[in-house]
Amino acid sequence: MTVFLIAALTADGFIARGPAHTPMSWTSKEDKQFFTQRTKEARVVVMGLNTYKTIGKPLSGRQNIVYAPASPAGGPSGTILEGVQVTQDDPKTLILKLSEEGFQEVAICGGATIYTMFMEAGVVDKLYLTLEPILFGSGIHLFNKELQVNLKLESTKNLSETTILLEYSVLK
Ligand SMILES: NC(=O)c1ccc[n+]([C@@H]2O[C@H](COP(=O)([O-])OP(=O)(O)OC[C@H]3O[C@@H](n4cnc5c(N)ncnc54)[C@H](OP(=O)(O)O)[C@@H]3O)[C@@H](O)[C@H]2O)c1
Repeated sequence: MTVFLIAALTADGFIARGPAHTPMSWTSKEDKQFFTQRTKEARVVVMGLNTYKTIGKPLSGRQNIVYAPASPAGGPSGTILEGVQVTQDDPKTLILKLSEEGFQEVAICGGATIYTMFMEAGVVDKLYLTLEPILFGSGIHLFNKELQVNLKLESTKNLSETTILLEYSVLK
């Protein structure tokens, strides 16, 4: 099982201006294409409720797993979370269940709360970080707690003249 984290970052390291700010408004079409292609390869995407709300519907062609309270604020789960699997599992338990279901890869799709929870649990093997040529100055960082994780840069790729994809593996 390979667990990868996938995120688009501003050049100053933010993933959003605030919890309701969608990446759709500021990321490149090349990043969106890479995200779709790579997460469809994985077949399963994991995200938090705030991120899911910015998307508003399940990502097609992938099993969608959303971290949300059993009865999320903002509406009955049957309405806003129709078509997704809601979980409160700890990361290791979720990865084990997905492995038992036959998945070989899992895409961790944010936001900061979910990225941090999976990184802290020590289950992330790889990171795909797209750097976009924009600055926010303040906002939501990739992670929201102190971490000590060493990475190996595996590859860099220009997705376009302005957008760079960094692929890291986590040194364990
Ligand atoms: N640039 C990018 O690539 C990228 C990617 C993804 C997201 N984002 C952005 O990141 C922002 C959202 O990040 P975020 O950190 O605010 O939120 P988030 O990680 O998307 O979601 C946090 C939510 O997940 C729920 N949750 C977390 N752990 C849980 C658990 N164990 N059990 C049940 N529910 C759990 C929390 O519910 P409770 O607090 O009620 O417990 C909270 O509502 C958005 O602006 C989004 O657009 C950017």
